[in-house]
Amino acid sequence: MAKLYIDEKKKKSHINPELYGHFSEHLGRGIYGGLFVGEDSDIPNVKGMRSDVVEALRKIRVPVLRWPGGCFADEYHWMDGIGPKESRKKMINTHWGGVVEDNSFGTHEYFELCSQLGCKTYINGNVGSGSVREMSEWVEYMTFQGVSPMADLRAKNGHEDAWKVDYFGVGNENWGCGGNMTPEYYGNLYRRYQTYVRDYNHEHILKIACGANVNDTEWTKGVLKTCFAFPHPGHAHGFMDGLSLHYYVHPGGWQNKGSATDFTEETCYKTLDKALYMEDLIKAHGAILDEYDPEKKIGMMVDEWGAWYDVEPGTNPGFLYQQNTMRDALVAAVTLNIFNQHSDRVKMACIAQMVNVLQSVILTEGSKMVLTPTYHVFHMYRHHQDAELVESWLEGVETAGVQDCRVPSLQESVSVDQDGVVTVTLANLSLEEAYPVAAELAGMEPAKAEASILTGKMNAHNTFEEPENVKEEAFMDVNLKGKQASLTIPPCSVVCLRLS
Ligand code: AHR
Repeated sequence: MAKLYIDEKKKKSHINPELYGHFSEHLGRGIYGGLFVGEDSDIPNVKGMRSDVVEALRKIRVPVLRWPGGCFADEYHWMDGIGPKESRKKMINTHWGGVVEDNSFGTHEYFELCSQLGCKTYINGNVGSGSVREMSEWVEYMTFQGVSPMADLRAKNGHEDAWKVDYFGVGNENWGCGGNMTPEYYGNLYRRYQTYVRDYNHEHILKIACGANVNDTEWTKGVLKTCFAFPHPGHAHGFMDGLSLHYYVHPGGWQNKGSATDFTEETCYKTLDKALYMEDLIKAHGAILDEYDPEKKIGMMVDEWGAWYDVEPGTNPGFLYQQNTMRDALVAAVTLNIFNQHSDRVKMACIAQMVNVLQSVILTEGSKMVLTPTYHVFHMYRHHQDAELVESWLEGVETAGVQDCRVPSLQESVSVDQDGVVTVTLANLSLEEAYPVAAELAGMEPAKAEASILTGKMNAHNTFEEPENVKEEAFMDVNLKGKQASLTIPPCSVVCLRLS
């Protein structure tokens, strides 16, 4: 029997809702077809946004949406995406599949989508191939309320009122697709570009510098050395509010990612082991951030994370369309537990990507839509948003795996919300063993336990023909006795337990 100790009175850090954020890029059918179908489409939509997808996304409480890229961001010229649609520039999306980008989804459409989702906004600006002026005018266009060339242009294009930009990324992957820069060179550019990301209307835009790829701590050091700055006297903010981190799980390495649905147990454990590596990365980059910012004011923004496999056979290799299985549900479960556990430093995370690209929560095909196992994990974990992480630890946990690829069989995080409800999210990474678990609270004697479960074979997934192969279900087998809640968690499953 494994023991899960919970000290519900020991609050450790606030879980920013933005840890449950999403990323959507002009890539494949991520936006076009997946989110945006245009007002003339037969697919039911509101102002071009497909209603089925928006409705499903509202249920998982999308807190923030990063747009327009990714690599696409450093080639995006925002003025191409405003004004009458028929006169918007058509271009080739060189990064992603070489297809025509007609710019019918642009700034106005993005804010419309965020308003329908009820989420915060995160714009990623172009440093790689854009000018300081272009970036500064975009910020003026979006956020300045008053008389100015860009505010006037916005009004002329049908939107009198300024929008709110909550987060602004100054470049993306500038160590790679965003310009192949050195950290010092980028750091200097960052200092310059961010100067012109102005706070109009007394609203601070949280500025995010491009952080490292995976374990490249030299990038983190070089960027922080060059552009970390405490607020100047008379200024409330320094140069940056966040530093990003990108990490994708490729089970067989970058060159050999493997199938999303056809894989061995060994590959499954390798994938999970690689997902757990997220914690090492947060610690390694976090230790460098601590040297500059011991009070943890700067957020680590893991604004691209997820599993990346070979594309579905027969689909455009540049579209990064992949299926999503219970293996991905476990990847999401352990990753989100890690973010919760490090919510003192991790202030935002965006899964890549929201719809039809990489580890998506939703897949679409024409008018059909399917919710992936990863979607259900986000639904189960929504209770952690805005809650307080509390102390918890597991004892008596075995390892699971094959040969030398072993992972802890159980992994958890626990929070308490404003109403005092304790949420436990627990993943069983073993593909074979069920484990009895006794969760013991420090003081609380819960009167009520509510739980749900997501479980299935490692490669179980939902298709357009069978959309409910894997779905969240009520989990009734929880026994309450005094301060203890006991349950047996089946293999390859995720449980959300709510105690009140
Ligand atoms: O998410 C797909 C791509 O992965 C993004 O465009 C880029 O930032 C990353 O390399």
